[in-house]
Amino acid sequence: MIRDILRMGDPRLWQPAAPVERFATPELDALMADLRETMAAASGAGLAAPQIGVPLQVVIFGVESSPRYPDAEPVPFTELVNPVLTPLSTEIDEDWEGCLSVPGLRGVVPRYTRLRYEGFDPRGNAIRREVAGFHARVVQHECDHLRGILYPMRMPDLSRFGYTDVLFPDGAAADE
Ligand code: NI
Repeated sequence: MIRDILRMGDPRLWQPAAPVERFATPELDALMADLRETMAAASGAGLAAPQIGVPLQVVIFGVESSPRYPDAEPVPFTELVNPVLTPLSTEIDEDWEGCLSVPGLRGVVPRYTRLRYEGFDPRGNAIRREVAGFHARVVQHECDHLRGILYPMRMPDLSRFGYTDVLFPDGAAADE
């Protein structure tokens, strides 16, 4: 079922999410289906359960090569439960981000360039990956939602925050 996506200002987006305690349940399967359908309907690159009002540590993400992310390598579609992120260096990268909970806006956000993420798929199988670049950025953005953090809260320079159609008037970057 396509769910409403909460927008910035809704207090549910500031709450820390709780770990999932039981895998392979009908409830978790239903949540995953709702996340997939909602992300697809919004043409998003990722979605976290708190964004649809479910305070659990569940995120999904994935990007095929897209004109909206012309410089981005594809990111495999991933369903990640109870994630733990570990930076693999102190190197920081800055790039533009958008968020389905902050529609119509984009901002430049510093993120770790390389990291390891660990967690589980919805069946309870372990996931452990070392990633870099855009993949690492997407994971950090989604996992921030599990701690009640939206990307504008990570921005040191609000002069690089604005409306997508003003920042990118040629229209290459669609709303997300
Ligand atoms: Ni987001």
